[in-house]
Amino acid sequence: MNKQLLDKIREKREFSQLPEKDIENAFSHYEKIQASDDEKIKLTKELLRKVFSAFISQKLLSLKNKDTEWILRKHISTRERLPYYGKIYSRIFGEEKIASVIDLGAGINGFSYDYLGRKKKYTAIESVGQLVELMNFYFGKEKLNARAIHLSLFETEKVKKTIEEEKKPRIVFLFKVIDALESLKPNYSKELISEIAEIADKIVVSFATRSLGSREKFRAKRNWIVDFVKEHFNLLDDFELGGERYLVFNK
Ligand SMILES: C[S@@+](CC[C@H](N)C(=O)[O-])C[C@H]1O[C@@H](n2cnc3c(N)ncnc32)[C@H](O)[C@@H]1O
Repeated sequence: MNKQLLDKIREKREFSQLPEKDIENAFSHYEKIQASDDEKIKLTKELLRKVFSAFISQKLLSLKNKDTEWILRKHISTRERLPYYGKIYSRIFGEEKIASVIDLGAGINGFSYDYLGRKKKYTAIESVGQLVELMNFYFGKEKLNARAIHLSLFETEKVKKTIEEEKKPRIVFLFKVIDALESLKPNYSKELISEIAEIADKIVVSFATRSLGSREKFRAKRNWIVDFVKEHFNLLDDFELGGERYLVFNK
């Protein structure tokens, strides 16, 4: 896509720091339709909003000095998970020694670092630059063994390199991010998971079992990911807590 259109989309603060790759993927859905550039930009922004900013309070894009729980409540995913973090992480880790956690499409999940057990190195990968800054500010202030990286998950080779830099045993999280990847590039999540399975000791994929904000279940829609995991990987655990289902697996 041309630079002028890219700049126009980035004029909006919520999209100002998105990697080019993500904007391009969104724009590609409308590139060939019969419409004006303005209309294409409008549609691209609507899709980007659905994928990158619908879950966060706009307050997160500017504030820094707030306590951890306040921040975890400003993102729909972490707010819903907040009462269950202890249980979720102890179920995922058990007694096992894990050296590194790599959290893909992390949102602000880095603020749950304390629930991880402080011995693990935590790495977040996230497209929204403001959330990356927010996490790095917190990691620095608390002197945590953690970092956040501003990178699109569509940069497959860079994502793999980031994972490979971390000590083994490594665990990779893909919490509530599959829908986002699928809406920008259908079937990409399967490709990404297959690549990551080669270098991760364990993968945890999660998805919501009820639509955000409502109690209605939409289990059927997610069967494809469960089937994909069961068919190609070794499913180690499968549980549901707080309206979120977690699949733990490896190669
Ligand atoms: C529903 S939120 C879930 C956040 C976090 N994983 C959690 O469960 O607490 C999805 C996150 O994935 C990020 N994301 C979506 N597509 C991405 C991509 N292609 N590359 C990097 N991050 C992405 C979004 O910006 C958002 O923070």
